[in-house]
Amino acid sequence: CGIVGYIGHREAYPIIIKGLQRLEYRGYDSAGIALYDGNAIKLSKTKGKVSDLKNKIENEISTDGTLGIGHTRWATHGVPNDVNSHPHYSNSGDLVIIHNGIIENYDSLKKELIKRGYTFHSDTDTEVLVNLIEEVQKNDNLKLGKAVQVALNQVVGAYAIAVFDKNKPNEIVVAKLGSPLAIGIGDDEFFIASDASPFIEYTKNAIYLEDEEMAIIRRGKKIKVRKIKNDVLVDPYVQELQLNLEQIEKGGYDHFMLKEIYEQPSAILDTFRGRLLSNEGMIKLAGVEDNMKKFLAADRIIIVACGTSWHAGLVAEYIFEDLARIPVEVEYASEFRYRNPVITEKDIVIAISQSGETADTLAAIKLAKSKGAFVFGVCNVVGSTIARETDAGAYTHAGPEIGVASTKAFTTQITVLTLMALRLARAKGTMSSSEFRHHLIELETIPGKVEEALKSDAYVKTVAEIYKDSKNCLYLGRGFNFPVALEGALKLKEISYIHAEGYPAAEMKHGPIALIDEHMPVIVIATKMGHYDKVVSNIQEIKARKGKIIGIVTKGDTSVKELADHVIEVPETLECLTPLLTTIPLQLLSYHIAVMLEKNVDQPRNLAKSVTVE
Ligand code: G6P
Repeated sequence: CGIVGYIGHREAYPIIIKGLQRLEYRGYDSAGIALYDGNAIKLSKTKGKVSDLKNKIENEISTDGTLGIGHTRWATHGVPNDVNSHPHYSNSGDLVIIHNGIIENYDSLKKELIKRGYTFHSDTDTEVLVNLIEEVQKNDNLKLGKAVQVALNQVVGAYAIAVFDKNKPNEIVVAKLGSPLAIGIGDDEFFIASDASPFIEYTKNAIYLEDEEMAIIRRGKKIKVRKIKNDVLVDPYVQELQLNLEQIEKGGYDHFMLKEIYEQPSAILDTFRGRLLSNEGMIKLAGVEDNMKKFLAADRIIIVACGTSWHAGLVAEYIFEDLARIPVEVEYASEFRYRNPVITEKDIVIAISQSGETADTLAAIKLAKSKGAFVFGVCNVVGSTIARETDAGAYTHAGPEIGVASTKAFTTQITVLTLMALRLARAKGTMSSSEFRHHLIELETIPGKVEEALKSDAYVKTVAEIYKDSKNCLYLGRGFNFPVALEGALKLKEISYIHAEGYPAAEMKHGPIALIDEHMPVIVIATKMGHYDKVVSNIQEIKARKGKIIGIVTKGDTSVKELADHVIEVPETLECLTPLLTTIPLQLLSYHIAVMLEKNVDQPRNLAKSVTVE
């Protein structure tokens, strides 16, 4: 979910509605706003997107007021409908709250509140929380801030909340545990949001609350931040934001996803910048350099991640083992954290996360740290929770990724991980200096080659037209490109809702081959390097069963061309770098199919970009 709030001298409504639109990547199944106009709270909410809310609200309530809060939801408790949408009132109607997260002990709290005469209108855990705050406030005659603090000390779960009281219309109380919360500080005005994007045109100064912190934000006063548990006042660190408006707008593209696909050459270049020094024959990654002893002493690397980031982890497994000869295991963070894994102080855990907020990945990090492992983060969002929670790390410099289906985050993650593997290979001596230099020079050509791969766009579109009505799709690859097959299938599923499976090409004969007939498109990554002949044999097997073959091949390929129904070329490069190129046509293919099927490319159903619940 995404939350936004404003208190100051401007009209709150336009700031909040635009802010919610920018945060829609965090969830978009319902949305709502509460405003205070000096006399009363005005609240409007609806199932659907922020644009639906906008249409509804302007007919329903007057939108004046200089204090307000808003929410865009990704349902956890209770189906997405009008009633379950946020904000939620307390029973008296005095308090109103927005919440991102989950209150795990909501059931017992709810039963207790019902006993005390409270009634509930929604199925949400959030309504329980706002009534708990009200109960505490009334019982002990507390100020709002204190009541929030006492209530939160009874809560188990995760939250970023903002709450106000209509009897105290000059303050908003916010608190954070597990879910992100940023406070923008302007001149006599404050902005609250799940990330800084809703307020970047108003201020560059922001405080990111730490876990278990709360803040009382009063009109015209200095912010007070304190620890929820022990009430200690903390001096908040005011950060200068690097984000700019242009980065979060579509810039002439039809969709964010397409813009982000096309940004990959520059995103990869930005990720190299200052790190890949090919003239000096060096790679510099501060997080690795500073901890080189630990890396060299490590028995193995465990990579934890979710979704697309997990696929980047799988590519990294091949690269680390091949180049640096370090054993690597790649784990779904959600499995790792719950299965009593063997972790020792000699393990290095690499957590990969675009958002830096994924709840399962964060929990896996905490578990690894508690067992004494050294945890290294590969995140895109600067200052995110995972970036702060890890012992060291290296950012991908992809810039904001807004399309829910991840594209440039994936290729920049692979870029960072490749730089790490190369640096470690050099330090361990598993690579000669000439081989190392050769890799650096080749890596440097990748942005240009991605640019070239993007030129297949028009052709990929014609292929998309042919297969857009398929019910199933199979993606095959081997070695470094096996994870690319998984990622290609995931992209198609996510945005076009066509069922797709990624498989190691050689495994096809142990099952998926049964699915192949003349209706089944099979996308085969068959670059010249790496098991080429074996993959060609796999293609023969598909052809013998009348499957439709779309080959992703190295420029100039002839053998696959003879067999396949379509071939899409990518430039030649070192085998370990091919995923950075073969991914591109697969992203474009999913994109065009989804557009042709009139799906919501940037905000596919049921998904959210940043999943801050487990
Ligand atoms: C969600 C997104 C995916 C993403 C995954 C992990 O499921 O929809 O695109 O890969 O979370 O996110 P992270 O921010 O940790 O990379």
